[in-house]
Amino acid sequence: MKQLKLVDFVIFLFFLTESLSLPTKPQDVDDFSITQKFIEENVGYITIITFAQYIQKASFEEVEMLAKAMTEYRDQCLTNRTLPQCSKLPNDALLEAICSMEGLPKEHNFSHCCSKVDFERRLCFFLNKKADVGFLPPLPTLDPEVKCQAYKSNSESFLSNYIYEVSRRNPFVFAPTLLTVAVRIEEMIKTCCEEQDKANCFQTKAVPVIQYLKALSSYQKTVCGAFLKFGPQVLKSIYIVTLSQKFPKIEFKELTSLLEDVSSMYSGCCEGDAVHCIHGRSKVMSHICLKQDSISSKIKECCEKQIPERGECIIHSYKDDRPEDLSLREAKFTENKNVCEERNADQHIFMAKFLYEYSRRHQELSTPELLRIANVYDDLLKECCNAENPPDCYSIAESKFNETTEKSLQMVQRECERFQSLGKDGLKY
Ligand SMILES: *[C@@H]1O[C@H](CO)[C@@H](O)[C@H](O)[C@H]1NC(C)=O
Ligand SMILES: *[C@@H]1O[C@H](CO)[C@@H](O)[C@H](O)[C@H]1NC(C)=O
Ligand SMILES: *[C@@H]1O[C@H](CO)[C@@H](O)[C@H](O)[C@H]1NC(C)=O
Repeated sequence: MKQLKLVDFVIFLFFLTESLSLPTKPQDVDDFSITQKFIEENVGYITIITFAQYIQKASFEEVEMLAKAMTEYRDQCLTNRTLPQCSKLPNDALLEAICSMEGLPKEHNFSHCCSKVDFERRLCFFLNKKADVGFLPPLPTLDPEVKCQAYKSNSESFLSNYIYEVSRRNPFVFAPTLLTVAVRIEEMIKTCCEEQDKANCFQTKAVPVIQYLKALSSYQKTVCGAFLKFGPQVLKSIYIVTLSQKFPKIEFKELTSLLEDVSSMYSGCCEGDAVHCIHGRSKVMSHICLKQDSISSKIKECCEKQIPERGECIIHSYKDDRPEDLSLREAKFTENKNVCEERNADQHIFMAKFLYEYSRRHQELSTPELLRIANVYDDLLKECCNAENPPDCYSIAESKFNETTEKSLQMVQRECERFQSLGKDGLKY
């Protein structure tokens, strides 16, 4: 994996697209060009990820060929970015290159996508992804000595091949996550190939990396599924919970502005546009790091890291401590007389505020749990705001929330008991 060199980099704005809002603050400009530089240096790997995720049956040779073509394209555009072909959206340029590979569209049956343009084409390629990868052989496992030899003789080709094999089997995992996995795999190889007992080292060190990939893959699939099916509102609700629990200190206004960035990032990542995804994610992370004083005390070290580790580090950082002056109960949603007026003024904002206030006070509850509580509250208010005496009617809200929590606690307990009685072997996944 190529690391970023911060010295003497030039701000190239090739790959700069209208779909991304331009940075305005100096720090953002810095982060933007660092991200840009990262993308430029990793064009090969990014191409491999995108291609292997779109056309999972493509061979490694085909993927390598495209990576080479895209690297040439980058060089061309870095030399002269006023060339007409350099004004394209990066993902469109990539799809164009895929479509113009001789015989390939026919061989892998995606000519119908190439006959479309713009959004229709992107959508067609996206729909071509197959979540069920049963048609691919299991991930090849190499003998440790062979692995070390292969890495030693050509580390770039070895990593390319690894990224290819993982990407085609995980067509929905975000590019930054796959790049992080590649960085970790490389670290593992460097360490283990020096060891006496290589096999044991690989076995031990691979476990957390694979778990990490599996966990993120499943999370990203779920969130993108909800996003693509139900639209940005659901995504925003999920992230109100996640961010408020992680950053209980954050102000509502800051949270709302962060949510806009998160939403834009997901639209790129979920659709498989790696460049948009990397830029989007970087924007979210710079936003968080720039405002860290008012957001969290737990991310200082993460913010000193580089792309893509910085993002992964923040995602996995600990929840910040609940501010001392933040009481556990927030009476304004259950005891205030003008709840219904506030709700009527703007239901979306009202519910967002509720979810924010409840989540930052209840860092121990799960996301689905908090979303359920918000639903319970919303249903209750629908009923109560039409009742004769609304405040009386919604004064039971808190005990309803407790009921919801208890119900899911019982469910979890039942599941755990079932799990214990089945024993470890009963849990297959
Ligand atoms: C860059 O490309 C443009 C458009 O094709 C051309 O007019 C210009 O002469 C090129 N500049 C250089 C330095 O090659
Ligand atoms: C090729 O793709 C088309 C359109 O998705 C589909 O109808 C057809 O069955 C596919 N053919 C093969 C051989 O996979
Ligand atoms: C709800 O649960 C909390 C925490 O267990 C408790 O402090 C509170 O009194 C309960 N409220 C109601 C109305 O049951």
